[in-house]
Amino acid sequence: MEFKEGESEIKGWIHAKRSSGGIIFLILRERGYVQVVVRKDKVKNFEEIEKLPLESVIKIKGKMKKDDRSPFGWEVEAEEIEILSKAKPDFPFMRKHKFNVDHIFKYRHLWLRSQKMFLILKIRSEVLNFIRKWFIENGYWEFQAPIFTASACEGGATLFEVNYFGKKVYLTQSWQLYAEAAIASLGKIFTIAPSFRAEKSRTRRHLTEYWHVEAEIPFCELDCLMKEEENFISFVCQEIARNCKEELKFFNRDPKDLMKVEPPFPRITYTEAIEILQQKGVNVEWGEDLGADEERILTQEFDIPFFVTHYPKQAKAFYHKVDRSNPKVTLSVDMLAPEGYGEIIGSGVREDDYEILLQRIKEEGLDSKNYEWYLDLRKYGSIPHAGFGLGLERLLMWICKLKHIREAIAFPRTINRIYP
Ligand code: 4AD
Ligand code: MG
Repeated sequence: MEFKEGESEIKGWIHAKRSSGGIIFLILRERGYVQVVVRKDKVKNFEEIEKLPLESVIKIKGKMKKDDRSPFGWEVEAEEIEILSKAKPDFPFMRKHKFNVDHIFKYRHLWLRSQKMFLILKIRSEVLNFIRKWFIENGYWEFQAPIFTASACEGGATLFEVNYFGKKVYLTQSWQLYAEAAIASLGKIFTIAPSFRAEKSRTRRHLTEYWHVEAEIPFCELDCLMKEEENFISFVCQEIARNCKEELKFFNRDPKDLMKVEPPFPRITYTEAIEILQQKGVNVEWGEDLGADEERILTQEFDIPFFVTHYPKQAKAFYHKVDRSNPKVTLSVDMLAPEGYGEIIGSGVREDDYEILLQRIKEEGLDSKNYEWYLDLRKYGSIPHAGFGLGLERLLMWICKLKHIREAIAFPRTINRIYP
């Protein structure tokens, strides 16, 4: 619906309704909300409207005006109302109820109409808009890779198997390996696509299907990579702060928190991270990967996103470039969001030496036959290159201060949710 002063004709769903002494106050919903005042002495079918169940669809003619006292800032004084669709009276989300999690997910298709989901999905759309804008303005081209793959990117533990005409293939975990092939043609590229992880444990920050924003950059190493990432995330945060002020308010997110996200982001090494954790009494050994709990503690040190670099070889996937000055670690870097959120980006420099890469593939117990094409890229014009992957829902979780990642996507897929 269009918000403008004067005579208007609007259509929408009845989101909420209350009446008192010859007046009905409706909240009408369609791409936003407006309060509608229906007076008995003005509107012919007043009684019929009064009995209309929530979520019925009506068309209203009347005067619209900006009114700061009304709950959504705009109000319409109804003159004529036409009923377009009468809803059944048992809508599962009547007002003034607290709904439990199972109820919300069983009726997710209807819960999308809640104000909370409306705002999350609107911000999500804006975030995607600014993500794409940053890439295009910075000279990236968009490139797509297949979803069915024969070779694992991020390790076997989270692979989804698919029966592909009798052959075992997998749903992609990342576009990266194919992107590494494409940079020799297109130069720097990005994608926005679903990735799949068979996450078997229940956590607040894992989905089995999530939206992955990935970039791959030729002639780029660790410093160059971190600069791209911090410029990218700063741009998106600041644009959201400027363009979604009202929406952010609903989530108690002060736009200033996002405005202050600007380069350079703090950088610590994995080894320094372990020292910080040990000083705080956390029981963690050098070499272990950082889990959600360790990351949460590290985030207390910072109030904007920050980098953790140089993870040990055993904590990262086979393709990470081994640091030639310290072969125990890789030229890898994760970006962690503050306030307890933790990893939002996984990234690094790619191993570009044929022999070392082949050895890493074997060490990880992978079948090198499946990676012949990938190894070829190190035979014909191998160059230093790097890239990153951002979990869209992880970013949204932090921006909107959500408690659970499943709130950041319309129809979440988790180990125990596939309906609707
Ligand atoms: O750290 P990850 O596994 O890195 C990669 O996949 C690289 N190949 C990316 C690249 O360099 N092109 O995943 C990247 C990001 C994580 O930082 C996290 O934000 C998100 O993807 N992610 C998930 N989001 C939701 N649910 C899951 N199960 C996720 N697994 C990873
Ligand atoms: Mg990671």
